[in-house]
Amino acid sequence: MKFSRHAQSLQASYIREILSAASQPEMISMAGGLPAASLLPVELIREACESMTDNPQLFQYGSSRGYQPLLETLARWSPESTQPWLICNGSQQGLDLIARALLEPGDQVVAEVPAYLGALQAFQLTGASLLPLLSGAAGPDLDQLEHYFKVTDVKLFYAVPDFHNPTGRVWSAETRIAVATLCRHYGVTLIEDSPYRQLRFSGAQLCSVSELYPEQTIRLISFSKTGFPGLRVGAMSGPAEFITVAERIKQATDLHTGIPQQVIIHRLLNHPEYPEHLIRLQQGYRSRYQYLSAELHQQLGQLIEFDPVEGGMFIWLSLKGKSGAQVASRALTHKLAVVPGAAFYDKGTATKDCHIRLNFSNTDTALVQEAVARLAKAL
Ligand SMILES: Cc1ncc(COP(=O)(O)O)c(C=O)c1O
Repeated sequence: MKFSRHAQSLQASYIREILSAASQPEMISMAGGLPAASLLPVELIREACESMTDNPQLFQYGSSRGYQPLLETLARWSPESTQPWLICNGSQQGLDLIARALLEPGDQVVAEVPAYLGALQAFQLTGASLLPLLSGAAGPDLDQLEHYFKVTDVKLFYAVPDFHNPTGRVWSAETRIAVATLCRHYGVTLIEDSPYRQLRFSGAQLCSVSELYPEQTIRLISFSKTGFPGLRVGAMSGPAEFITVAERIKQATDLHTGIPQQVIIHRLLNHPEYPEHLIRLQQGYRSRYQYLSAELHQQLGQLIEFDPVEGGMFIWLSLKGKSGAQVASRALTHKLAVVPGAAFYDKGTATKDCHIRLNFSNTDTALVQEAVARLAKAL
């Protein structure tokens, strides 16, 4: 079989591959970006699941735009915005629809590096080229961003301003304003990918960049981190002309996202205990983070360093010059799964990266001490 050039160039996701290793007996996994199983809000959807069979209409074909009551709930969330929503199979499908609606082979996409590989894969499948943008504690390097905007015809800027995957960083308020100003000045479309925004467990929430630059920002949200990743429900909003085209592409791709899972998410979001569920999730992740952070300092001391995080699911651990790939591979022999930093860069551009990503949301607190002891052996 002769595969397309773009399909051949697609690299396998280390994370998806390691997830099967991570399910081996006795393995402790800090690899995936999974929510805590014990905090999944199953009780809040029990009644919705049980009563769905009373309404066979929910198992018919539905609209490509999405289940109307869910769309209305999303519109109520941001009453100040008139921008339409499109329901997707997870925000990952939103990334794919954006790429197919907007990118041509050879187009330039700026992305913060390290980056969420799923986004890079979606962009590369269209034949677009990636321009790597360095970032620090307050967000991306604004001089480099402006340089790219000045010297190349940048089509999209892909960003995760809240609890970035894998670094856990949050853009400062000043960076948000500066990025919106630069994008507006150079007419670049911004993709604001925010699956982790509601997982803030300390510090103050900052305004989303889409509010500062609504005319040309496409915003992606997900119910995988606050609801259920297995249901595959996410959504995107943006300028009406874009959502119309994206809906047409979705129609050609899969007709629509399954109605029963949209009904479940709709009932979850409107459940009177949903706000409490979010608080429980934030508190649970705060204590898991604090526990892991304390163990890392206590057991690994001078061997590592990391910036504290205020939410999300990840610690981006610097190994102070040791290869992330080697440490991750040794950790596997000690039955600990972690993701090496190099997995978050475009094909082989960072084989010498000295970080690993540690997930704290999904690891049982009772296993954390042992997990860090295994990491100490690997180091
Ligand atoms: C930054 C980022 N964007 C998008 C996704 C895709 O999420 P989903 O398709 O489950 O909504 C993920 C998944 O981990 C992610 O980390």
